[in-house]
Amino acid sequence: MRENIVFSDLAKELAAKAREIADKYVRPAAKKYDRLQEYNWEAARAVADAGLFRTFIPVEYGGHGAGILALACVTEELAKADSGFGVAFAVNALGSFPILVGGTEEQKQRWLPQIARGEKFVAFCLSEKFAGSDAGGLAVTAEEDGDDYVICGEKKWTTNGGVADIYSVFCVTDANSKSRRISAIVVEKGTPGFTVKKVEDKMGIRCVPVVETHFDNVRVPKSNLIGERPGMGFKHAMETLDLARPGVAAQAVGAAQGALDLAVVYANRRNQFGAPISSFQMVQQMLANMAMKTEAARWLVYSAAGAIDQGQKNKVSKQAAMAKCFATDVAMEVATDAVQVFGGYGFMEDYPIAKFFRDAKILQIYEGTNQIQRVVIARHMIREAMELEHLAAFIPHESQATYKNGAMKTASTGSAKP
Ligand code: CAA
Repeated sequence: MRENIVFSDLAKELAAKAREIADKYVRPAAKKYDRLQEYNWEAARAVADAGLFRTFIPVEYGGHGAGILALACVTEELAKADSGFGVAFAVNALGSFPILVGGTEEQKQRWLPQIARGEKFVAFCLSEKFAGSDAGGLAVTAEEDGDDYVICGEKKWTTNGGVADIYSVFCVTDANSKSRRISAIVVEKGTPGFTVKKVEDKMGIRCVPVVETHFDNVRVPKSNLIGERPGMGFKHAMETLDLARPGVAAQAVGAAQGALDLAVVYANRRNQFGAPISSFQMVQQMLANMAMKTEAARWLVYSAAGAIDQGQKNKVSKQAAMAKCFATDVAMEVATDAVQVFGGYGFMEDYPIAKFFRDAKILQIYEGTNQIQRVVIARHMIREAMELEHLAAFIPHESQATYKNGAMKTASTGSAKP
């Protein structure tokens, strides 16, 4: 076991509470809220009452300070019952992380205790219609006007939109700057000109709203700019995603385990040719493969989360991307195989497994597509390969690489970014 995976008693206690809530309020209602596309307020209140929103908030701001590994464990338990509810929970961390990584002391004191108590829910507004993977290509603007910023434009795919009270909104504050173009600004629900317009009709995670958020000359005080100075938004967004991706990965592990648990119970009960289908080796092979992949994903997630908790800064970005990419691909594969185990019934909405399949797809897309995760991983590998240069002695002299300022020059693409 890797030394960065240390489960505190608190993490175990929080995960146990999450399991109880999942059994009592989440799993029994999952089908209903999926059909209705409504938020499970009862479960969210139970999560707040159990203090689970405190998990990721530092102690000095009213949280448990239990860290990202504990957050992953809690998310996994909730997602095992309903992947949609898993993200409804985890997105509060995603929306809070910009304040945590970039906010001033005053801003942390202002917003984090309310989030910790579960009084205020949070959303993260980065993506736009024309800026998804290219997170730097935003168009929403925030212009200075006296002591205020005035925000104009539209955000797309705001998860928790409408439910959330606090929105971390990424805006262009300096269109002429290349590296300091973007800033993160907090907009609170009810601010004039800020509206939720289109509530998306989704394939999965239907119990959590995903909406368009519109900003029509939304005026907020400059004190809502996250951090001391403008232009830090892209960095804050990237650091946020590094912290949050293990959460999506944990959601994926929960979803995979939830689907696998149903598949094995079903395989024991479904008789064909005079025997339970679990006695057939081809079904056993599927179940065994599903179990191995889920377990491998789980430990990759714990390892990434543990690396963050231990402050292993140089490892965090790559580890988080690997966990997110691997675990979410696993969730899709396992959910697909679980449907296969259920056969014709798996395709029908009477059975819970179709929902696992529908819910799994978004995991490979949001918080950075799995193609983007592979870009992040490869860029880190290329940079780290400088430390492996001693191996070049074993490689024929025709293959040459030159490093300049930490980047490797390649013939086909020019400079590969670190
Ligand atoms: N931490 C800190 N800084 C970072 C960083 C990191 N992890 N990654 C990059 N940066 C910095 C770089 O050092 C660089 O700084 P300088 O300008 O000072 O040199 C700057 O950011 C630009 O970096 P890149 O040149 O690498 O940026 P890029 O334009 O090539 O983009 C990317 C990189 C990885 C593709 C990035 O755009 C990305 O992650 N895209 C995916 C966006 C995403 O995940 N969206 C999800 C939306 S949220 C969502 O889905 C939530 C939901 O609904 C639940």
